[in-house]
Amino acid sequence: MILRGALAIAALAGLAGATFAAQGVSPDTGVSDPALARQNWILKCQGCHRPDATGTPETTPAMAGIVAKFLHVSGGREYLARVPGVATAPLDDTQLADLLNWTLYRFDGAHVPADFRPYSAEEIGRLRKAPLRTEAPAVRAALAARINALAESDL
Ligand code: HEC
Repeated sequence: MILRGALAIAALAGLAGATFAAQGVSPDTGVSDPALARQNWILKCQGCHRPDATGTPETTPAMAGIVAKFLHVSGGREYLARVPGVATAPLDDTQLADLLNWTLYRFDGAHVPADFRPYSAEEIGRLRKAPLRTEAPAVRAALAARINALAESDL
C-alpha cells in the first residue's frame, strides 16, 4: 500500500511536469501573443520588409539573419525601437513591444544576445517618443560600421 501510494505521488509529479512542458514554458522572449505579433507583421511590416524579412532591394534593408546584431553594439537597442517603421507603427506600446521582440526571435534568433532583456511596453513607449526621421539611414550606417568591426565570434 505504501509503495502504491509512493508510486501514485511519483506519477502525479510526472504528470505535473509534463503539463508544465506542454504549456511551452521557455525562456522569456517578451512575446505574449505570437499569433497577434505575426498578424501585425503581415499587416503593418511585410509590405516593405517582405514576409521573410529579406527586404526590398534599393529601399528596405534585409533583417533576416541580421537584425539582432544591432543589440550587440551601443545605441543599437534604442535604434531598433526608434526606427520610423517601428516608432510610428499604428500599434499600442504593448503590441509594438510584442512585435519587435517577435521580429528579433523570428528572423534572427541566432544573434539575440544570451542576456537580452525583451523590450517592455514601457521602454517602447519611452523610445518611440523620439522617432528617427530622415537621419535614420545615417544612424543605421554608423551602427552597421560598429557591427562590422565586431568579430563573428562576438555575435
Ligand atoms: C514604408 C516601409 C517600411 C515599413 C512599413 C516598415 N519598415 Fe521597418 N524599415 C524600413 C526601412 C527603409 C528601414 C531602414 C532604416 C530606415 O531608413 O528607416 C527599416 C528598418 C527597420 C528595423 C531596423 C533594422 C535595420 O536593419 O535597420 C526594424 C527592427 C524594422 N524596420 C522593423 C519594422 C517593423 C516591426 C515594422 C512594422 C511595424 C516595420 N519595420 C515597417 C522600412 C519599413
